[in-house]
Amino acid sequence: MTEETSPSPRRALITGATLGIGEAFARRLAADGWDLVLVARDAGRLDATATELIRRYDCRIEIMSADLSTDDGCAVVERRLGDEPPVGLLVNNAGMSLNTPFVRSPIGDEARLIRLNVLAVLRLTHAALGPMVKRRKGTVINVSSVAGFGVPMPGSTYSASKAWVTNFSESIGQSVAPFGVRVMALCPGYTRTGYHERAGINMSRIPAWLWLRPDDVVDEGLRDLRKGRLVSVPSWKYKLAVAGLRHAPRRLLRGVSRDTRGRIAPGAD
Ligand SMILES: NC(=O)c1ccc[n+]([C@@H]2O[C@H](COP(=O)([O-])OP(=O)(O)OC[C@H]3O[C@@H](n4cnc5c(N)ncnc54)[C@H](OP(=O)(O)O)[C@@H]3O)[C@@H](O)[C@H]2O)c1
Repeated sequence: MTEETSPSPRRALITGATLGIGEAFARRLAADGWDLVLVARDAGRLDATATELIRRYDCRIEIMSADLSTDDGCAVVERRLGDEPPVGLLVNNAGMSLNTPFVRSPIGDEARLIRLNVLAVLRLTHAALGPMVKRRKGTVINVSSVAGFGVPMPGSTYSASKAWVTNFSESIGQSVAPFGVRVMALCPGYTRTGYHERAGINMSRIPAWLWLRPDDVVDEGLRDLRKGRLVSVPSWKYKLAVAGLRHAPRRLLRGVSRDTRGRIAPGAD
């Protein structure tokens, strides 16, 4: 990052930092000389990730085991964001999706998705921005999704949650910019992380050329941050798709969504 966009002190807190896009952020920032606070639930994986990053990059790392779909988990991380030494960059990356049509999905699972994808992002962004605005420097990157650009996905609150993340980040980003603070929504398309497999979603029919690499998503996201963007959509393929989504008639989108329901959420009806 350039001096201009690099919030100082150089300490970043990343949620969901042990796998996929979050782990790619951790590696990239550690390589760029940042100290890190890593957040996820699995303490063993946090330890292993921290050990490997310290070995490779000789950075300082704090680890926090917290379930961000719970009140207690959010509260622990909120406290850290208000604490010393200060966090200059927050990456709200942890997120989940479900693989069950809405009417058959237990309401507890739906609520857990909203707590992790929406409420935790709201709470941690709020906790980070107070001190950042006071210091007149700092950055928040909220990892959203191209699914948030109005793709009516069958049987899932996921796309609705990501529409909220993108809209929220863009709005708050505008409101804190005069204080020297940045908020950006990073909206990847399909990214090879094992996320869909872990959620039990069959992605075998998604063509190989549509998949992004986590490192490329992070590189392009940080490039867009340097350019001052409020919303980043990595890769020209997804930029084109988003332009199409913004202008396509809703009826057409619902038709495409119906045709692809077997790929995205098998069993949805
Ligand atoms: N992969 C894609 O195709 C794709 C596309 C667009 C957007 N995204 C978004 O990108 C973000 C990261 O996705 P990913 O594919 O990199 O995910 P991933 O590979 O499944 O990694 C998820 C990370 O979040 C942590 N995590 C999960 N639930 C958590 C919870 N309740 N509290 C705290 N940490 C939790 C996991 O560790 P623990 O299990 O130990 O907690 C792990 O470190 C998500 O917000 C996702 O919606 C992904």
